Amino acid sequence: MDRHSSLLNLFLFCGFWIAAFCDQDGFLSLSCGGSTNYTDMSNIYWIPDSSFISTGNTTTIQHAEGTSSSSVPIRYFPDSQGRKCYRLPVKNVSSMVLVRAQFVYKNYDGDGKPPSFSVSLGTATLSTTDLSSKDPWIEEFLWPVNKDVLSFCLLAIPDKGYPVISSLEIRPLPQDSYTTGMEDFQNTSLRKRHRINCGYTNGSLRYPSDPYDRIWDSDENFSPFHVSTGFKIEVSFERAGFIKESLPAAILQTARVLARRDVLTYKLPLDTMGDYYIILYFAGILPVFPSFDVLINGDIVQSNYTVKTSEVSALYVTRKGINSLNITLKSTRFCPQLNGIEVYEIIDVPLEASSTTVSALQVIQQSTGLDLGWVDDPCSPTSWDHIGCESNLVTSLELPNIKLRSISPTFGDLLDLKSLDLHNTSLTGEIQNLDSLQHLEKLNLSFNELTSFGTGLENLVSLRTLDLQNNSLQGTVPDSLGDLIDLHLLNLENNKLEGTIPQSLNRESLEIRSSGNLCLSFSTVTCSDVSSNPSIETPQVTIFNKKKHTGYNHLVIILGVTGGALLVLFLCITLSVFLYTRRKKTEMANRARAEAIDMRNWNAAKIFTYKEIKSATSNFKEVIGRGSFGSVYLGKLPQGKLVAVKVRFDKTLLGAESFINEVHLLSKIRHQNLVSLEGFCYESKQQILVYEYLPGGSLVDHLYGPNSRKVSLSWVRRLKIAVDAAKGLDYLHNGSEPRIIHRDVKCSNILLDVEMNAKVCDFGLSKQVTQADATHVTTVVKGTAGYLDPEYYSTQQLTEKSDVYSFGVVLLELICGREPLSHSGTPDSFNLVLWAKPYLQAGAFEIVDDNIKGSFDVESMRKAAFVAIKSVERDASQRPTIAQVLAELKEAYSIQLSYLASRDM
Ligand SMILES: *[C@@H]1O[C@H](CO)[C@@H](O)[C@H](O)[C@H]1NC(C)=O
Ligand SMILES: *[C@@H]1O[C@H](CO)[C@@H](O)[C@H](O)[C@H]1NC(C)=O
Ligand SMILES: *[C@@H]1O[C@H](CO)[C@@H](O)[C@H](O)[C@H]1NC(C)=O
Ligand SMILES: *[C@@H]1O[C@H](CO)[C@@H](O)[C@H](O)[C@H]1NC(C)=O
Ligand SMILES: *[C@@H]1O[C@H](CO)[C@@H](O)[C@H](O)[C@H]1NC(C)=O
Ligand SMILES: *[C@@H]1O[C@H](CO)[C@@H](O)[C@H](O)[C@H]1NC(C)=O
Ligand SMILES: *[C@@H]1O[C@H](CO)[C@@H](O)[C@H](O)[C@H]1NC(C)=O
Ligand SMILES: *[C@@H]1O[C@H](CO)[C@@H](O)[C@H](O)[C@H]1NC(C)=O
Repeated sequence: MDRHSSLLNLFLFCGFWIAAFCDQDGFLSLSCGGSTNYTDMSNIYWIPDSSFISTGNTTTIQHAEGTSSSSVPIRYFPDSQGRKCYRLPVKNVSSMVLVRAQFVYKNYDGDGKPPSFSVSLGTATLSTTDLSSKDPWIEEFLWPVNKDVLSFCLLAIPDKGYPVISSLEIRPLPQDSYTTGMEDFQNTSLRKRHRINCGYTNGSLRYPSDPYDRIWDSDENFSPFHVSTGFKIEVSFERAGFIKESLPAAILQTARVLARRDVLTYKLPLDTMGDYYIILYFAGILPVFPSFDVLINGDIVQSNYTVKTSEVSALYVTRKGINSLNITLKSTRFCPQLNGIEVYEIIDVPLEASSTTVSALQVIQQSTGLDLGWVDDPCSPTSWDHIGCESNLVTSLELPNIKLRSISPTFGDLLDLKSLDLHNTSLTGEIQNLDSLQHLEKLNLSFNELTSFGTGLENLVSLRTLDLQNNSLQGTVPDSLGDLIDLHLLNLENNKLEGTIPQSLNRESLEIRSSGNLCLSFSTVTCSDVSSNPSIETPQVTIFNKKKHTGYNHLVIILGVTGGALLVLFLCITLSVFLYTRRKKTEMANRARAEAIDMRNWNAAKIFTYKEIKSATSNFKEVIGRGSFGSVYLGKLPQGKLVAVKVRFDKTLLGAESFINEVHLLSKIRHQNLVSLEGFCYESKQQILVYEYLPGGSLVDHLYGPNSRKVSLSWVRRLKIAVDAAKGLDYLHNGSEPRIIHRDVKCSNILLDVEMNAKVCDFGLSKQVTQADATHVTTVVKGTAGYLDPEYYSTQQLTEKSDVYSFGVVLLELICGREPLSHSGTPDSFNLVLWAKPYLQAGAFEIVDDNIKGSFDVESMRKAAFVAIKSVERDASQRPTIAQVLAELKEAYSIQLSYLASRDM
């Protein structure tokens, strides 16, 4: 309860207000199904709704009323599948808007069956419209805007007919209105039940009488429950109200007043049991100060309330769990009076799912190549198809029988998943990117072509059911699966596993299904010699060819030793025919490629043969890195120079032209802070890049590696690394021709040489997928979770500012000494950006990495922190350019240097 009052006299000079509001600032009035723009009798400008919704059919209702007949356009949705949504722009985020919708049936379809459907705004289902009880039906909501687009949706109820709508209006409300007294009700919306212009009996009032276009019903409609006669007292003042709801004089200048000391009662019907917000307005339009007790449903909510002459005030009351309303004013002095009443049902707005979850799901939807109809929030008002939720957490995802091909890193962002079903999704390679799913209880990856358990399955600590049947898993069952103590079903049927099942899995609570493998059991009894000796000579032939060029299906032929001779013979014939055709094609392709390569100027880059690569890497002996596009091996050139050799996976191969173009581009990029290309190899099916080798490892090793605690980087080192990396990126953005967007800036792509100079790697190649390549590049093009520009999810485009965002994350890591996503601690701290921002903004440096506490200059830290948080602004246009980032970092660096110098003196 609260009371606001102010002197009417103050506003007498405000006579200009009508003019100020006449432009209907922010009004949006949609004539649903309409086809023309028009201005109505209240001078409101209506436009057709077609640019705000993409579904539904339109028609016009003719209806006669008395002597006049009118036609009302409507939009209806003659299919009952899914939500039908309007996307409505709202200008002022974090304000309150009024959303009013009118639904009309009037038997437009001749079926005589008025429909019933539900209405939602954002994440909240706000009401159920039942046109059989009232037609037309008007709903009005006050909605706290938190986004610049509002989703207003209709959802059919099975067997209750099709949704239909005739108009939709949006009206901005005054700042902070309808919040007083609502402290106990956070994250709620208000649904209008009553709005009464007390004491006024000549019809309803709206715009322009009320500049906010609230519709005020006339008082008489609320009989038979009224016990008093209304007085209408005209006063001559213009605007009346510094109360936040900013009530116009037109409403306040009439009141219901009792002629003598008595009890004034409004008994208002409410259609549902619920929580309600009630506002009573009073204006001092009488020459006396009446006082009275205010009772709601029998409870005194304010005793001896006094209305002072010339003052406007309001009483805000909330009531929980009521289904009828009796507002009574009991006189203590003079006659009780009431000028206006508003009554709203309070409706909870469910929390949105976390943005990490939403963005991960969007990327997953994109990678399926299907339109799954995933829009707005995954959990509310209804959960998306294929998705299950517990309140605002996405706990299950079922995407079987589609072509996914790989488990992309985004799956690892769905931290709340308890159940994941990806059976029959053409997954190949190893099981990957799921390590972070600590709550996962059920994982179904059956009927795929997975070949390896990968690493990290043992981190799925909650796992109870693991279904890997009908894959191509090879080798032995990893011992580490024994760490999954809750596992009670492990299905390994029909794979190519062999050897003994680890004893760690030999427990009563665990059922293991292992039939259909090469030789798999708990016993140590040896299987036949051949199968227990998995050598490189395993007679297994994999033939792979690009569908695009040859018309062959993606054909995998496996010659099992146990296979029948006939089969072998047949396959041999097939194979030789195949290989012959293939050799022909390959030869031609090689010749064309060689010509294309020869014609270029390769700057300093050298062309290697596959043989040279093989010997440089001692037959690909030492892996020094793995990425989604391939593996990186250590190599040594004949002159003794160490190199990093990056071999692309088959499935990530680029088209010939793209590869050559890209390599050509890379060969031209030379900068002291960019890892340079030494050469490349493009032979047979291989696309190999040879880079200079940096012995210092990556920034990740230094920040989080096993030795990071013992020899941690000092603040000045960190700044130097940041400056170096920013220089590299600045060159890509502004110095190179063409300009290059890195697209995957992260700590593991910042490498260090022996002198701890930093160089950026992994730019350019492989991330620009051209249209021609798109058919066989199967991996989703994306940055790395935790570093990815949030705008990417809405625009699907990475820009220079996306690099700035990712680099901002790197800076935060340097400052805080923690990884961008962590899965421990409280949800508030999962995401580095969200967690660190408020602290750093407030100059609260307690979150700075313990390893550098006490050794940094505060001003230097402040500068670096400031540029870091600016760089991770959600809105890309608010982020600085990399050149600006560099300039700030240089300053932070030099401040820290002079601080160190002065400290040493
Ligand atoms: C939007 O907000 C700004 C600043 O808060 C204010 O000046 C402007 O009048 C508002 N516009 C509307 C339509 O409410
Ligand atoms: C109707 O109004 C919309 C929005 O104001 C405008 O874009 C459109 O051009 C108008 N159409 C006509 C026919 O005036
Ligand atoms: C609605 O419109 C679609 C295409 O615009 C049309 O195919 C369909 O028949 C219409 N449905 C009804 C019930 O008029
Ligand atoms: C209201 O929503 C915000 C975020 O939208 C959330 O942080 C807050 O906890 C919510 N409050 C309540 C009481 O649920
Ligand atoms: C009621 O309003 C109408 C116009 O809306 C007006 O013509 C009429 O005079 C009003 N009646 C009274 C009694 O004020
Ligand atoms: C409304 O409440 C008042 C005070 O509690 C009571 O006297 C009155 O009878 C009630 N009126 C109705 C119609 O329920
Ligand atoms: C009610 O309030 C008025 C004005 O504040 C005061 O004069 C009067 O004595 C009060 N009456 C009671 C019964 O408290
Ligand atoms: C796998 O999915 C395809 C459709 O993508 C379907 O035709 C096939 O029957 C499914 N196979 C299994 C084993 O579920």
